[in-house]
Amino acid sequence: MITDRLPAHVAIIMDGNGRWAKRRGLGRLLGHREGYRTLRKVLLAASELGVRYLTVYAFSAENWRRPEEEVKGLMKLIETAARDELRVMHKNNVRVRVAGRIDEVPATLRQALCDGIETTKDNTGITFTLAINYGGRAEVVDAVRAILAEGGEVTEEAISAHLYNPDQPEPDLMIRTAGEMRWSNFLLWQSAYTELVVVSETWPEFDENSLRRCLDEYATRTRKFGAVVDEPTPIPHG
Ligand code: FPP
Repeated sequence: MITDRLPAHVAIIMDGNGRWAKRRGLGRLLGHREGYRTLRKVLLAASELGVRYLTVYAFSAENWRRPEEEVKGLMKLIETAARDELRVMHKNNVRVRVAGRIDEVPATLRQALCDGIETTKDNTGITFTLAINYGGRAEVVDAVRAILAEGGEVTEEAISAHLYNPDQPEPDLMIRTAGEMRWSNFLLWQSAYTELVVVSETWPEFDENSLRRCLDEYATRTRKFGAVVDEPTPIPHG
């Protein structure tokens, strides 16, 4: 694996849990449960590889439109995961964060998340951010509202400084599983120059090796940030 061009911040759209379950004749919630097992492995692998920030899309602001049973099951799964994994995350020096309108999620889940954030806030390893009830547009609206409430001027710098986690670097790499070529309202503001890698595997099928392949793909990309960057001149044929 190429290690000298490691992304500092990796964001993941964990898609395809439902399709994974359906193909096996299982209920959608079993797909999400398998997705949780993948997330556990991928977080530890990313941490061991030296990624500094991992941000995952666990529940979007649009996911409330899903059947009630699925929404409830997902909330419960995230809450159970937050409680069960806290010890292991703390032991691994993981710093837990959230992004999203957390005041709108069930109180017991909010409490589990707050406990995780508080317990791990001084950890110095990977920063693991769970995007829950998260929408990229809502994040920008919330930032602008906060600026106006302070009587400030709305500038790009001010918006960046009022995002949910303004101290975090913008994602270098966005991974999306299950083949869909969409951004789905994830980290819209901070992904202006993020490299996108889409893989065909569903999220439950994704593993440490898949992560390594995505990091290798990232390492081959030339990042331009809107400027002109010299590419190596190709050798003419013939
Ligand atoms: C997308 O698959 C996935 C989600 C909406 C939820 C992601 C949640 C997990 C991976 C569960 C574990 C999370 C934590 C934090 C413990 P989909 O249901 O849209 O799949 P489909 O497009 O195939 O239907």
